[in-house]
Amino acid sequence: MSPETQRKIEALFPRYPEKRGALLPAIYLVQAEKGYVGPQDARALAELFGLEPVDVWEVLTFYNMFYTSAQGRHHVYVCTNLPCSLRGARTLLKELESHLGIRCGQTTPDGRVTLAHEECLGSCGTAPVMRVDGEYVENLDLSEAKRVVDSLE
Ligand code: FES
Repeated sequence: MSPETQRKIEALFPRYPEKRGALLPAIYLVQAEKGYVGPQDARALAELFGLEPVDVWEVLTFYNMFYTSAQGRHHVYVCTNLPCSLRGARTLLKELESHLGIRCGQTTPDGRVTLAHEECLGSCGTAPVMRVDGEYVENLDLSEAKRVVDSLE
C-alpha cells in the first residue's frame, strides 16, 4: 500500500475503541488504491494492525465485495443458487465460460471481464439473474447473457 493509504488507515484508528475495528475500512482503502487486496497487502495490514496475517485474510475472504487478485474492468456474476439453477443458471454459466474462453473466477486475457458465480442475489422471482457491474440483468436466457457480456467495452 502507498504511504498515503497507510496515513489514511492510521487516521481511522482513533475512531474505533479497538484498532481492529478499522480493519474493514482499511481493506476498502487498499482495494480502492490498487483494485484488489492480495496476500502481500494482507501481510502489510496485519503488521499495521498488530494482527496475524490469517486474521486479515479471514476478514478479507469472508466478504465477496473484496477481491484477492486483479479483476477485469467489468464484473459479471451469475447467481447459481437453487432457484436460478433450476431455471438454467448453471448451464448459462458454463456457456458464458466457453463464450469468454475462461473459467468461473477468472478474467479474460484482455482484462475486460471477470466472470464469477454468486449466491442468491435476492431476485429469485426473476431467475435466472446475473449482476453486471452492480446492475441486475434478470429473466436471462443464453442469447441475452451473451449479448450483455459482448456489449461490455
Ligand atoms: S437464487 Fe438467484 S436470485 Fe435468488
